[in-house]
Amino acid sequence: MKIIGTGRSHPSLVVTNEMLSQFLDTNDEWITTRTGIKERRIISSENLVDLAIDAAKKALSDANMDAKDLDYIICANVVNEYITPAMSCLIQGAIGATCPCFDLNGACVGFIYALEIAESFYRSGKYKNILIVCAEEPSRMVDWHDRSCSVLFGDGAAAAVLTEGDNIKATKMSASCNWDRLYQKHELQYSPYNSKPNSNLPLVMHGQDVFMFATRASIRDINSVMKQAGYTSDQVDHFLIHQANIRIINNIKQFVKQPDEKFPLNIQKYGNTSSASVPILLDEVNKEGRLKRGDIIVMSAFGAGFVSGACILEW
Ligand code: UT7
Repeated sequence: MKIIGTGRSHPSLVVTNEMLSQFLDTNDEWITTRTGIKERRIISSENLVDLAIDAAKKALSDANMDAKDLDYIICANVVNEYITPAMSCLIQGAIGATCPCFDLNGACVGFIYALEIAESFYRSGKYKNILIVCAEEPSRMVDWHDRSCSVLFGDGAAAAVLTEGDNIKATKMSASCNWDRLYQKHELQYSPYNSKPNSNLPLVMHGQDVFMFATRASIRDINSVMKQAGYTSDQVDHFLIHQANIRIINNIKQFVKQPDEKFPLNIQKYGNTSSASVPILLDEVNKEGRLKRGDIIVMSAFGAGFVSGACILEW
């Protein structure tokens, strides 16, 4: 497949590090040096699904495609207002599409998981035009009294439209179960047959374990997709890395020995927006005119599971 359109949508509220330090024992210096984040967008009056719909419409308009021509919609999302129906169904109705759709929970790797699935769908010969939407609201998952977690995340949505092409050169997905390093349980309904206690606790993260996993997994995955596709890091024009921590990105940069210009960043503005992170970055560099036809792009993301994934594609 190839990507022919991108779009993104952010909540209007900007929450700076200074604002957080008014109710948390934290400060701009700690957050900036340890993470690279200066501010993030947080959902206040908006609904996540409306951001998802907005991003989808923008991507369709960028691709010059009518929603009726879509053959499939995949929405990457960890949590939203509805447990069922899937968010992809709400998006499908709002944009006027008639195709099948489903949601996938790939944590922060959702976009790359969706890209690989879209590519397989296309190769099956059944589907040609696929919309991927990533929409996340981690601000409703974290404990806002927990300074080690709440400062890291931001909300947002981004989308991409794909059609036939042979631009996706290689993908590499992985999962290794370390569920208790980064997780959140949610509340289930009472059942007279089930005596397990209910749980409605915020996101739990063991930051240093996640950091180590993320760095190793991303380096391994990037190496793997470059090798599979027969490219060296010198031949890659852009490395779009999940914007979780600037120090993770710097470690990856050192490994591939490539200059700063090849590593676009927006972590300072949005923080970690989970699966929306890579496609938000993709849309930014696309709309800024930084992508030329034929450019080689590597994407890499990692997250709760642990899961990780990378992809190499030609623009
Ligand atoms: O999307 C994928 C999932 N997430 C990630 O990829 C995140 C991966 N992990 C990380 O990015 C980093 O581990 C963190 C940014 C979460 C933490 O950075 P760190 O360098 O590993 O710090 P730490 O957890 O070792 O904490 C160092 C100190 C502690 O104080 P003491 O025990 O040394 O006195 C923390 O209590 O920093 C303290 N601390 C803070 N101080 C000010 C933790 N959070 C804050 C804060 N402000 N917000």
